Amino acid sequence: MTGGGVTDTLVSVSNAGPTEQDPDGASPSSASVAGPTHRIDIRRLLDRITALAEIGPIAGGGSSRLALTDADRAARGLVTTWMGDLGLTVSIDGIGNVIGMWEIGEGAPVLVGSHIDTVATGGRYDGNLGVLAGLEVIEALQQSGATPNRPIGVGFFTNEEGARFAPDMMGSLVYVGGLAIEEALDTVGIDGARVADELERIGYSGPTPSPGPAPYAFVELHIEQGPVLEAAGLQIGAVTGVQGISWSEFTFTGRSSHAGTTPMELRNDPSIPASQLLLEARHLAHLIGGPQVATVGRFEPYPNLVNVIPRSVEMTLDVRNSDDEVLRHVEHVLFDYAETMAAQEGCSVERRSLARFEPVQFDERIVGLVEATATGLGLSVQQMPSGAGHDAQMFARICPTAMVFVPSVNGLSHNPAEFTESADLENGANVLINVVWTLATTGVELNGAVHE
Ligand code: GLV
Ligand code: MN
Ligand code: MN
Repeated sequence: MTGGGVTDTLVSVSNAGPTEQDPDGASPSSASVAGPTHRIDIRRLLDRITALAEIGPIAGGGSSRLALTDADRAARGLVTTWMGDLGLTVSIDGIGNVIGMWEIGEGAPVLVGSHIDTVATGGRYDGNLGVLAGLEVIEALQQSGATPNRPIGVGFFTNEEGARFAPDMMGSLVYVGGLAIEEALDTVGIDGARVADELERIGYSGPTPSPGPAPYAFVELHIEQGPVLEAAGLQIGAVTGVQGISWSEFTFTGRSSHAGTTPMELRNDPSIPASQLLLEARHLAHLIGGPQVATVGRFEPYPNLVNVIPRSVEMTLDVRNSDDEVLRHVEHVLFDYAETMAAQEGCSVERRSLARFEPVQFDERIVGLVEATATGLGLSVQQMPSGAGHDAQMFARICPTAMVFVPSVNGLSHNPAEFTESADLENGANVLINVVWTLATTGVELNGAVHE
């Protein structure tokens, strides 16, 4: 499996509709006569989603599977078993990325996948959908007797969420050579655990080398996690790219003292500049408008007691924008503001960068293929950017890449109430199977598309 496959001769999107018979024998609509004809089995996909969600279950129907915890290990075991059941060749690399490969045809594989780690208050679709839909794509193609010209792989990538270990998308970043494996393995998480130790402990430090070989193409199905598709009444998003992401950790340090006896003018209270930064981030995001967002997701005073002026506050700042110049401006303003506010309160402040990713553009030809495939299935579709980070944005560095979005009810995600209607899951997976089929057979014109 090498990147050389992308230079193969291919045909244009408009002629590339899959030609296999619908495995269910359903009569094709007029819109799909010459178009996408493969179909996934929604029952099987839903059963797998339910089974996986029952690992690390939390109230409200979601899951809690922080990366490399026991729950993550159990989920890995289940999905890897399913890969084996489909006859896939399973490989595990040194950062714990797991890929199941349907060894068929020749050349570099079409790779699909996502992640199965969650935030501590996660839903059951974020990431899991992309992995389980990938399994379903392979199972449906196998059952239909289809024989793709190139291998098809499905992967789950370690620590996409970044909620326990930063940066997020760690596994896919290592896969594409964007982060040295030694550095990733040495990462210490919010609970003091080290990635290398946790990988060993759960048995997912594998022998497959990384960086990994470039796939022919990478496609990720994911819930939108935002309100755009639902508000527009659309069924599918053809994702054009991912906005830039900047994560920082600030530690404000002051002087711990008695809450009752210390006069206000004699305090060096680090919760003051920390709170000012939180509010300024929100204010600035409103001022800039558009896609600019700013979030303080973690805010921890120490010692966190009712009658003690904190000695320190550790907080995170997540700022994102699709325009990197604007994002750099926001970082500059807020980082300076933190210093100024700390000094005003007689405190010190230190900043540590947890993650910094520039905006990513996906491959126009695959974005176009997603759009054409959805239209061919009679689904409403629009091109749109992603607000969330995804493994696909890392793969875009080494191979032609795109994503398929399906609507999120009430735009909710990173919340156990995260929900996507099964009809939408089915639509998204049907787009995925036909996009994968096109890429793995006749293909689209991807010549020279590898991004070095
Ligand atoms: C990943 O879920 C992100 O924070 O965008
Ligand atoms: Mn995700
Ligand atoms: Mn997520």
